[in-house]
Amino acid sequence: MARLGTLLCALAFGATVAATPPARAAETVKVGVILAYSGQAAASVKQMDEAINLYMKLHGKELGDTKLDLIRRDDTGPNPDMAKRLARELITRDKVNLLAGFYFTPNINAVAPLATEAKVPVIIMNAATSASIRLSPYLVRVSQTLWQQSYPLGQWAGHHGIKRAYIAVTDYGPGHDAEAAFARGFTEAGGTVVGHVEMPLKNADYVPFLQRIKDEKPDALFVFVPGSRDAAALMRAYSDLGLAAAGVRLIGTGDIVPDNELAEMGNVPDGVVTIGLYSAVADRPANKAFVAAWKAEYGPDAVPSPFAVGAWDGMAAIFHVVKAQHGKIDPDRTMQLLKGWRDDDSPRGPIMIDPQTRDIVQNMYIRKLERVNGKLANVEVETIPMVQDPWPKLNPPK
Ligand code: PHB
Repeated sequence: MARLGTLLCALAFGATVAATPPARAAETVKVGVILAYSGQAAASVKQMDEAINLYMKLHGKELGDTKLDLIRRDDTGPNPDMAKRLARELITRDKVNLLAGFYFTPNINAVAPLATEAKVPVIIMNAATSASIRLSPYLVRVSQTLWQQSYPLGQWAGHHGIKRAYIAVTDYGPGHDAEAAFARGFTEAGGTVVGHVEMPLKNADYVPFLQRIKDEKPDALFVFVPGSRDAAALMRAYSDLGLAAAGVRLIGTGDIVPDNELAEMGNVPDGVVTIGLYSAVADRPANKAFVAAWKAEYGPDAVPSPFAVGAWDGMAAIFHVVKAQHGKIDPDRTMQLLKGWRDDDSPRGPIMIDPQTRDIVQNMYIRKLERVNGKLANVEVETIPMVQDPWPKLNPPK
């Protein structure tokens, strides 16, 4: 009898449900976030994680009843084997729908084949070697490439009175790209590269390298090193060795002057010029709102960096595909949605994903490192609009 009662009740309930539009079951989207939470990049990755949390806090409601489950894993640094193992676990055991993060190039390079095999779209929030994007059709990049920064900076240097430049980069993918791109842009603009050096990725002591370069007396030293510990150490060596007083100007990619680390860089000499995708002191309304939200969340002295913006925009890309699919993630539809995706509200200015290359198109800003209200800041002095990565045109797919 009790059973019949339940059945009648269920039928009656069924009848009312049938009369109203079917309710959609709440979906959960699982995102595996692999980042170097510990190790040499920890300061930059903390910024990325803070951006992810802030985005969730400010935009979470837009997902309606879809739940976004972020599963974070620490790959500890440039450690491809570890990144691959973590990605494999996230794919097979946790059944993630998407992967995101990836600070270091070797790590995303190691994970790319797994993305193809399992058809899991990956949103690259930092790693910046141009060729990486070709390693799987399931990769999309929302950060930057070293070609995108270094080629236009080379041209800028050649056109701004720098005749002889020395190149110093970290000895791995992004450093090799930075060197090739800067040399090409600079020589095309009439400059001469008078020397180059590739410095170790792990535990580099920059003092001996910079001392040797000082003795060469180039007009400028162009540098790429990864953000965090390396950027701070490089800037300290440049100041301590008196390269500026010896007439050697420092120019480089934005990676060497992350906004959140400027306060600890001490007395950096005048004349440092970098190119970058983002500056915390930029005047754009979307940036003002972003910086205000950042300070409200993390304190009045907290400053977001380009690394934070890479993760922030990565979250915007994830929200875009989750919302468009109402939480039911299809890998190929996800990639279609990302190709050509455009966001005019990023703190860095307008951004777009090139549908052909799956790489980001964005403004590049030439910045002078200067004191604003007593604090070092990357002051934008020139905008190069909507720069595509120059590398694919020079290296067409075979
Ligand atoms: C990279 O490994 O691709 C990488 C790391 C740090 C940067 C830029 C690129 O600042």
